[in-house]
Amino acid sequence: MNISVIGTGYVGLITAITFAKKGHKVICVDISAERVDAINHAKPPFFEPGLDEYLRDLVGAHSLWATSNTEEAVNNSDMTFICVGTPHLPDGSQDLTYVTKCAKDIGAALKTKDGYHLVVVKSTVEPGTTKLTVLPLLCEAAGKEEGKEFSCAHNPEFLREGTALADSFNPDRIIMGVLDDSSRELLLDLYSNFECPKLVVDTNTSEMIKYASNAFLATKISFANEMANICQKLGVDVAEMFKGVTMDHRINPHFFNAGCGFGGSCFPKDISALIHVAKNQGVQTPLMNSVMSVNDVQPLKCLELAKTSGELSGKSVAVLGLAFKPGTDDVRETRALPLIQALLKEGAKVTGYDPQAIENFKKLLPEASVEYTDDAYVAITGKDIAFVQCDWNEIRLLEPKKIKELMKTPVVIDGRRTFDPKIMEGHGITYKAIGLGK
Ligand code: UDX
Repeated sequence: MNISVIGTGYVGLITAITFAKKGHKVICVDISAERVDAINHAKPPFFEPGLDEYLRDLVGAHSLWATSNTEEAVNNSDMTFICVGTPHLPDGSQDLTYVTKCAKDIGAALKTKDGYHLVVVKSTVEPGTTKLTVLPLLCEAAGKEEGKEFSCAHNPEFLREGTALADSFNPDRIIMGVLDDSSRELLLDLYSNFECPKLVVDTNTSEMIKYASNAFLATKISFANEMANICQKLGVDVAEMFKGVTMDHRINPHFFNAGCGFGGSCFPKDISALIHVAKNQGVQTPLMNSVMSVNDVQPLKCLELAKTSGELSGKSVAVLGLAFKPGTDDVRETRALPLIQALLKEGAKVTGYDPQAIENFKKLLPEASVEYTDDAYVAITGKDIAFVQCDWNEIRLLEPKKIKELMKTPVVIDGRRTFDPKIMEGHGITYKAIGLGK
């Protein structure tokens, strides 16, 4: 098939690469001329493992190219995926500016296009958006009725940054939200060579599946964190405890890693949007509200642990890991931000380390006097305390012997359970971690 993909962020570009790799011809669209140029020169516009190689192969083979012209992309494809961002507004609701602009542009192109075209919303949108906002905008701009000449569907993306390509090539499941039989057949055909369970539902259900999936995963993390906070006081190791809990076949062991909380572009944004959707329907969300408030306090638990060894004022500290998780340069909602802000407020002198995310992180704290380095050993040299915010392999593989030698006082506060406590203590390091119970 010929496929166009609008928006070349994480979701859009990974989706485009996945379809191109599966043998389709893919045209990417982005308003940023710089991004279009980068893609056409096979240069990844963001860091994601494996992205550079795939881009090189697919652009080289003319299976994927980019343009800023939506009309050209729509006219040269059979279906268009909307993959633009849906940031949240201060009240938690979704900002549909990019999605509506996209729908209008696609609709305008459809006006003169011959043949059937399917428009698929892949962006995460509030339930009802595909049917009640995108579809009417398409109909109006195209001057055509939905059904015969074009249709609209929703197809959520569940990829994780850092493992996005593998997730997209081998998804756990594919959800297709459709409004009619033609879009159902076309989507089933498109995904016929993906070996995974598939579910076809209506668009509202599909949109809600995405929100509920992220809400549940975030709930697991906040549950693990609340258990960790209790375990900490009781002298119980939360990781050991969860080994026993997850022996129950009803409780899947993934996503119970306690620590300094969840970040990223999806969980905080999607939960805020879900809370907002519920409020509009007159439904209270005490559980979702608590998931967020547990998450808000978790980075500060690292400070609490550090303070058991004395005040932070005047201390020189390293914060290891600035990205919201390993394998990405993405700093959206990273727990490093509240952690560093709190450390600065306490009067500590902070050095931040990350192998990929320093430049992005600097933009979050342009005024603050934080030093940065992309060498973890340099970051900890002469420091009183090292905080681990993100479990990059580069951090996991630090040698305890060198940590002990390089730090002024070897105190490690681990927000991600990166190290083995026994090994760290064996090297004379004061090691504390959220939920370790000591
Ligand atoms: C998430 C979802 O996993 C994905 O399905 C969805 O489409 C987009 O949002 P992503 O944001 O890339 O993906 O990151 P994820 O790996 O889910 O981690 C999110 C955050 O939760 C990270 O900050 C991570 O450190 C934290 N986390 C994850 C925990 O604190 N504990 C865990 O057990 C798992």
